[in-house]
Amino acid sequence: MREVEEAIATLLLGDPSADTAAAMAVCREQEPVLWVPPLEGWYVTRFDDVRDLFSDPRTTADPRAHLAYEAPVTERGRHWVGAFPFLSEDPGTEARGRVMATRGLSRQGTTRLESLVTEVVDEYADAIRDASGVVDLVAQFAAPVPATVVSRWTGVPQGSDEAQFRELAHKAVRGASPVLTPKKRRKTEMAQVALSEAILELARKRVADPRDDLLSDLIAASGGEDELDEIVRVVVGLVCTGAETTVRATTNSVRILLARPDLRKRLVDEPGIMMRALHEMMRYEAPLTHMARFAARDFELRGKRVRKGQLLLLSIQAAQRDPSVFTDPDTIDFDREPENLLAFGRGAHYCVGANLAWLQLDCMMRALLGLLPENARLLEDQIWWGGRGVLGRVKTLPVDFS
Ligand code: HEM
Repeated sequence: MREVEEAIATLLLGDPSADTAAAMAVCREQEPVLWVPPLEGWYVTRFDDVRDLFSDPRTTADPRAHLAYEAPVTERGRHWVGAFPFLSEDPGTEARGRVMATRGLSRQGTTRLESLVTEVVDEYADAIRDASGVVDLVAQFAAPVPATVVSRWTGVPQGSDEAQFRELAHKAVRGASPVLTPKKRRKTEMAQVALSEAILELARKRVADPRDDLLSDLIAASGGEDELDEIVRVVVGLVCTGAETTVRATTNSVRILLARPDLRKRLVDEPGIMMRALHEMMRYEAPLTHMARFAARDFELRGKRVRKGQLLLLSIQAAQRDPSVFTDPDTIDFDREPENLLAFGRGAHYCVGANLAWLQLDCMMRALLGLLPENARLLEDQIWWGGRGVLGRVKTLPVDFS
């Protein structure tokens, strides 16, 4: 048991840049469903359990089912943040957000999204193409590209509005975590309200003056102004889930390729394997390392008594390194069959933006491979990490272009 306690301490509190494969293996083998007091929740690490729990009717994704759920404190918070167009499992509403988002994505059409993504990637790639010295690839590329794509897609006007929108979205995005302190939760609530109201203002303009964007499309396809608030919630949901996840996938892939010149060379020589390579890098380093589920009732899991309302933290990262499913799981293998990926979830809440994410990642990585000088070097010891352990993430990616 001591070994498991040490492993979980490494996973939750350890150096975020450290290799966690060994600690995850200890949990997966010895305590695959482990109660973790600081999380007040169960940490689940085996592939089969994580896959099944994504769509197990004994659990729900709705954060309101969590014993520790705190309702928004203000009336505006309750109006905008207390309703869940995506994770909600309220009868009759469970698929509303999905239907609207899917409608938005398909009405926009792949060709339109492709040209938007290419335009934004080119804009940011051109700005660093001939850079010399140290470039922070998060600030100058990985972060602004997906945020700009999602804001232009939505219909935010380019220029100062775009920057303000990105800032609000960045603050609002932290609300996705089930383990926030009350203080952080309130700050996130304020940012989510501000973002919702900014989008509502924009939506009102689009009612009067429709354009070629997602907001106008959703308004045109809806039952009119009565549905405006719901449209705003859906768009806020997309903004909050769409940008940060893609940033993480990009930074993980860049880190891998700069640490492994052999893999980078292979991708340059064989650009046709890009999608398989992205798939494998996303298996090896899951952009969202964990996803939350909450027990909808008491039930038993691998001999443990899970109580209604308790948190189950599904470790996508540990599941995607499970040797019972992946041969030699701690090795990056671009020839591996692209199957059993859990990085986009499973079942009813499978990522609605997965196609857009693949499109952006493909375009971003091709641009980066084309512009990085051959001897570009990642200054690994100068990376700034936010958070501890597996919940930590890269905030800066300083790359020496000289
Ligand atoms: C590499 C990038 C991305 C990753 C790794 C990712 C990952 C995920 C995962 C794991 C889920 C499942 C959540 C759950 O089961 O509780 C999810 C759901 C979702 N994702 Fe993504 N995502 C990415 C990009 C995007 C983008 C670009 C968008 C939209 C613009 C998006 C929008 C959503 C939405 C709205 C949901 C909720 C679906 C629902 O509850 O029905 N994601 N994503």
